[in-house]
Amino acid sequence: MSTINLRRLRQDPHIRAMTREVSVSVEQLIQPCFVTEAGREPQAVPGLTGVFQETPDSLLHRVESDLRAGVSKFLLFGVPASRAEHDVDARFTCSQIEALKKRFGKDIWLGVDVCMCSYTPHGHCGVLNLEGDHVDNSASVRELANLALHYAQAGADCVAPSDMMDGRIAAIRQALDGNGCERTVLMSYAVKFHSTLYGPFRVAADSAPSGAVKLKDRASYQLDPARAGEAWLCTQRDVDEGADILMVKPGLPYLDLLRDLSREFKQPWAVYQVSGEYAALESLAAAGMAPRAALHREILTAFRRAGASMIITYGARSARAWLEG
Ligand code: PBG
Ligand code: ZN
Repeated sequence: MSTINLRRLRQDPHIRAMTREVSVSVEQLIQPCFVTEAGREPQAVPGLTGVFQETPDSLLHRVESDLRAGVSKFLLFGVPASRAEHDVDARFTCSQIEALKKRFGKDIWLGVDVCMCSYTPHGHCGVLNLEGDHVDNSASVRELANLALHYAQAGADCVAPSDMMDGRIAAIRQALDGNGCERTVLMSYAVKFHSTLYGPFRVAADSAPSGAVKLKDRASYQLDPARAGEAWLCTQRDVDEGADILMVKPGLPYLDLLRDLSREFKQPWAVYQVSGEYAALESLAAAGMAPRAALHREILTAFRRAGASMIITYGARSARAWLEG
């Protein structure tokens, strides 16, 4: 009996190219951007090669150069100079949305993260109760829906709540639809885990829980890494509440869920390759232990294979060279 010859279809670049099932293109990548009101100069974010805390000025320049690099989709994080527990002030972030849309119009697709952790004095993703030991769900949802509506009215193409409160998708959809923003896309951070991989981000967004309150971490609102069933419940709920796009976050450690959920729920899936994941790959490459372009290409391919339509990655603006390699 002859042996099964699987290597026949691996023997040359032509046959390998023709037999691939998935591909990655810069068109599918979303670049996160941070813009701070307090900064005077763009500041490199430790660990995140090519990523900066932008000033309003440098943000416009960065997006211009990103467009030249083939990147046209963005996820904006605004970091205002003053912080408050209630009635948080959306004006700084809105002014950045307006400036981007005035300058680039429909040449860019602008998603805006909706959360409170860069706005509150304690760095939690919502409003705390009086005891300071729990995030008040309904008070938070009211604030979040208000923020999302402001961003949409300022011109965001998409709003993306990352807070993990219950019922925020329905509340945001209702606020948008009731105020003339029916066309604004709603991308839910549906499956966002309580992860250790958010470190570099929290520096960039100035959003780490401060420790000055009783509630020390985000475990009471983000998903538990050991409980996959919850991911299904969150997804079903957000679909029922009207999410247009769903997301798994972080990416690589939760690839199993991305695969299973994307087979079951036919809304498009985004995956967020979070700051710690990106920084880990970059440090491997910087240490000479992996070839940078091929390393990133391999991981981005894994996200596509597991079912992601779009990938949020800090490497978007560098990716064209990686993907051509
Ligand atoms: C905050 C938020 C986080 C990220 C996106 N929005 C971090 C957190 O929940 O603390 C993570 C992004 C990253 O690490 O790249 N709501
Ligand atoms: Zn948050």
